[in-house]
Amino acid sequence: MPQTLHATGALPVVVVLGTGGTIAGRAARPDDLVSYRAAEVGVSDLLGGVPGPVGVQIESEQVAQLDSKDMDLVVWQRLCDRARHHLARTEVAGLVITHGTDTIEETAFVLQALLQPHKPVVLTCAMRPATALAPDGPQNLSDALVLACQTRAHGVLVVCAGKIHGPAEVSKVHTYRLDAFDSGDAGPLGAIEHGVVHHWRPWPEANSSGVPDERQRWAAFQAMANLPRVEMLYSHACADGRLVRTLLADVHLNGPEQLRGLVVAGAGNGSLHHRLQAALLEAVEVGVRVVRASRCAYGRVAPSQGDPFENSGGLSPAKARLALALALMGS
Ligand code: SIN
Repeated sequence: MPQTLHATGALPVVVVLGTGGTIAGRAARPDDLVSYRAAEVGVSDLLGGVPGPVGVQIESEQVAQLDSKDMDLVVWQRLCDRARHHLARTEVAGLVITHGTDTIEETAFVLQALLQPHKPVVLTCAMRPATALAPDGPQNLSDALVLACQTRAHGVLVVCAGKIHGPAEVSKVHTYRLDAFDSGDAGPLGAIEHGVVHHWRPWPEANSSGVPDERQRWAAFQAMANLPRVEMLYSHACADGRLVRTLLADVHLNGPEQLRGLVVAGAGNGSLHHRLQAALLEAVEVGVRVVRASRCAYGRVAPSQGDPFENSGGLSPAKARLALALALMGS
């Protein structure tokens, strides 16, 4: 627990891990908010424009430099490893991770599943590049630093546009608005207003955050070359199940190409076109785990008795995919 910091008399440290994203983006012109390149500005330069909370020592480390659409297992392994290393340091109050908005919710999920941290691990981002006329990154980073040194906060958190989101609920819901994230029916965990943290719902805890506790799979996660293969597909008008049957050809492959699971984003309450449903039942019969999620941004698929498919438990399709892939590790 982090409260030993003040007892030692040392300045608390917040470590900022850079991974890239639009927050580190650079455009040829300051009015260009579209054709910029993400992941260009180093994390120490990003911090140069942000004063940081008084009485807190800031350290930074560039863990990766990528557009988060290209996020992969190698970067997650390294990020989890560096986060775990710094969290174990007594003098560290919390971490900030700068990240692209496109897959920040997936990284938050993976970090919470594998670390279940007792200190705050605050992911933050930006919708405008660092070179914009009015960039949003510096304020988000400043808010994240404030939250990362709150001794009572813990768990993996996502901060954007003054809101604090939890790792199970957070989703990117807008393509260009600065306030691009939403926490569905649950709502944000809190807000940061004028440098003050307002806390509305409990911080994420192991076993009650909505993210499975996968700490026992740490060694397997760090050692693997690929996550177990889980594909994601939609139900939609005219769906015919052909995509599923094409994928089923890969069930008998060996190694990382072997199909292990499918997440289907059903319409509404997870409902599936009957032809797609028939193909997914064939998948279950040959040992593929099939999870039912929803295309809807709000609500969860109500479990029904005798459902042949697993239920995503309110997770978005992308997070249900990760939950299943992590669960399949080592099996
Ligand atoms: C990215 O996700 O790295 C690029 C887009 C963004 O950060 O908004």
